[in-house]
Amino acid sequence: MYTAAFTRHLIDWQKQSGRHDLPWQNTRDAYRVWLSEIMLQQTQVTTVIPYYQRFLARFPDVAALAAAPADDVLAHWAGLGYYARARNLHRCAQAIVTVHGGKFPNSPALLAELPGIGRSTAAAIAAFAYGTRAAILDGNVKRVLCRQFAIEGFPGSAAVERQLWALAESLLPECDIEAYTQGLMDLGATCCTRSKPDCTACPVAADCRARQQQRQHELPWPKPRAAQPERSAFFLLIDDGQQLLLERRPPSGLWGGLLVPPEGDPAAVLAGLGLQAEECRNLPAIRHVFTHFKLQLTPVWCRVRPTPGVAEDSRVWIAHRALANAGVPTPFRKLFAERYGQPAADTPD
Ligand code: ADE
Repeated sequence: MYTAAFTRHLIDWQKQSGRHDLPWQNTRDAYRVWLSEIMLQQTQVTTVIPYYQRFLARFPDVAALAAAPADDVLAHWAGLGYYARARNLHRCAQAIVTVHGGKFPNSPALLAELPGIGRSTAAAIAAFAYGTRAAILDGNVKRVLCRQFAIEGFPGSAAVERQLWALAESLLPECDIEAYTQGLMDLGATCCTRSKPDCTACPVAADCRARQQQRQHELPWPKPRAAQPERSAFFLLIDDGQQLLLERRPPSGLWGGLLVPPEGDPAAVLAGLGLQAEECRNLPAIRHVFTHFKLQLTPVWCRVRPTPGVAEDSRVWIAHRALANAGVPTPFRKLFAERYGQPAADTPD
C-alpha cells in the first residue's frame, strides 16, 4: 500500500517530536476526547487545559453532563467564549444518553449528526477515541496543506474546500491514524504557523511547494474582502451670504456629535426648514471611504436670504471663516477650506 511521503514523515515526526502529554491524550475515553475537541475548536491549548480539568472534575462522564442543569454547564464554560459551543455540548451529551445509549458512536458520519460536531471534529474524535481512519480539516490543517501543495484560492471557498477535503482523504495512512492526526495538529500549531513559520523545524519542508517557491506568506490565500457597499446622499450648504447652516448629529452613529450640513432631498430639506432658496447648484461630488462603506456625497449650494431666525438646539449658523474648524467631518472640513478659506486660526483678519 502506497503511503505519501508527507504522511510518513509526519507520523515519524509526531512520534519523535510531537506533543504526547496533553491532558486529553493517552486516553480512549470518547467523552474526554470529544470534550477536548469541542473546547479546542476556537481556543488555544494553554487556555483550554484548566477549563478542561475543572469541567471533568465536575462532570466526569457523559451521563453526569447530560443530567446537569444548563446553568451549571454554562458556569463551567464561562470565560472560554463562543457560548453556543456550551449549549451544543449539553444538548450533545443528552443526545448521546437518549439516542446512543450513553456511548459515542465510532462512525464519523454519525458523530457529525450530533450538535456542535462538524465533519473535521467528528473525524478527530473518531480517530483519537476509536482509531477510525478519517480526515480532519480545520483551519490549521488547511494552512498546512495549502502550503505543502501550493493550493491556490481562498481555502474557505466551496471549491477550494472540496479540493482540500479530497487531498486530506488521499493522504490518510493505513495505520497510525492517531499519530498522523495529532501530527497534523502539532505541525500547524508549532511549525507551520500563520506568520513566521519555522521551516527549519518542519519534517515536510523538503517537499513543501510554498517553501520551494518562497511563498509561505502568500499561502493560503486570505479571505477576499467583501465589496464595500456604496451610498450616495445630498448635503445642503445653506448659505445666507455670511454664514452656513449646520446640524449637530446625534451622539451615536455616523459622524456622531459633529456639525454637518443638512442631509437629504434638497427641496424637502428646505421646505422642512421653512426656507426658500434663491439659487441652488450641485457642486462636484466627493467620495469618502468609511470602514464599512463608501459614501458619494453631493454638496448642494443653496443661497437663501439672511434669516438668522431658524437656528434651534441642533442647528447653528456658522460664519464662513469659522467653518473649517467648527468640528465638522473631514470631507466637509476640506470642502469648507476650499470654498470659504482656511481655518480662522490660520487666517489673518
Ligand atoms: N486542536 C484541536 N484538537 C487538538 C488536539 N487534540 N490537540 C491539540 N490541539 C488541538
